Amino acid sequence: MSSENYTRIAEVWIVGLQISEVIRIPLFLFLLILYIIIILGNCLIIYLVLSSSCLHSPMYYFLCNLSFCEVVFTTNLKPVLLLSLLKGGAAMHLTNCIVQCYLCASLAATECFLLAVMSYDRYIAICSPLHYHFTMTLKKCLQLVTYSWIGGFTCMLATLVLIFHLDFCGPHVIDHYFCDFSPLLELSCSDFYFVKTETTFFCFSLTIFPLTFVIGTYVCIIVAILKIPSSTGRQKTFSTCSSHLSVVCTYYGTLISLYVVPHRGLSSTNNKILSLIYTVVTPLFNPIIYSLRNREIRASLHRLFAITGRPFPTLNKDS
Ligand SMILES: *[C@@H]1O[C@H](CO)[C@@H](O)[C@H](O)[C@H]1NC(C)=O
Repeated sequence: MSSENYTRIAEVWIVGLQISEVIRIPLFLFLLILYIIIILGNCLIIYLVLSSSCLHSPMYYFLCNLSFCEVVFTTNLKPVLLLSLLKGGAAMHLTNCIVQCYLCASLAATECFLLAVMSYDRYIAICSPLHYHFTMTLKKCLQLVTYSWIGGFTCMLATLVLIFHLDFCGPHVIDHYFCDFSPLLELSCSDFYFVKTETTFFCFSLTIFPLTFVIGTYVCIIVAILKIPSSTGRQKTFSTCSSHLSVVCTYYGTLISLYVVPHRGLSSTNNKILSLIYTVVTPLFNPIIYSLRNREIRASLHRLFAITGRPFPTLNKDS
């Protein structure tokens, strides 16, 4: 890296969503409220799982980690987004921008791994229930979670180092509402072909391999469920994995619609709105799906509100 013939830019300018004044403030408030709901909802799940002993099982520990992942993911993106929306743009230090980009990708990868681990957990629970308690010990559980986090954060490490070694000599405008890989790379004046290929390769495999694994386990799970003779038995067994299946579908659905389906025809604003939906939908749906569909979480929620003395409406159907 030579520093004679260029000056490294120190800051980037996040353009954010370029929309008219009329909808800017309402949208800001709307996103702010969503942000607060996401943080509160996921923190509530973490709190419920850690505090109620009936939720001390692998499935809920994984869920807890997933919620934690969502909290960090959202906190990484939303403040800059909100600021840029409010002010019509936001300045960001180049290093922070690269770190934001890295965190975003690493957390997304960790989430893919966690979802795969969760489906493995459901697979063992449904396909070999007799061995479940020997297979999914607390130690194994902790190992799987640790591997997911370490895996997610080391896979993107190479990209982080490579991006840090690129030269950024301006322009410094990012036409997006956070530092995503491709808009960031566009700012570089070095040859970024290798970084781009490497990143695309990693992102692709980090999405596809866990997804293939999840699909594989669910095929086995569905086959096992179909073999159950009674229909109440089938329903009961399916209900233990339906929340997870919904979360998997939302997560991969939005991810694939955003990064795999080509959006050539879309304007940059529409593209931004699409990825905005992605960053909101998944973190928001996680607590909603689990609190609405999962009997045990509902029961704990009920107890929590009963303890604090406030009445909690009609979710009293748990068996
Ligand atoms: C993550 O999972 C581990 C082990 O399964 C659990 O002990 C821990 O409390 C969880 N951490 C968070 C933040 O959810």
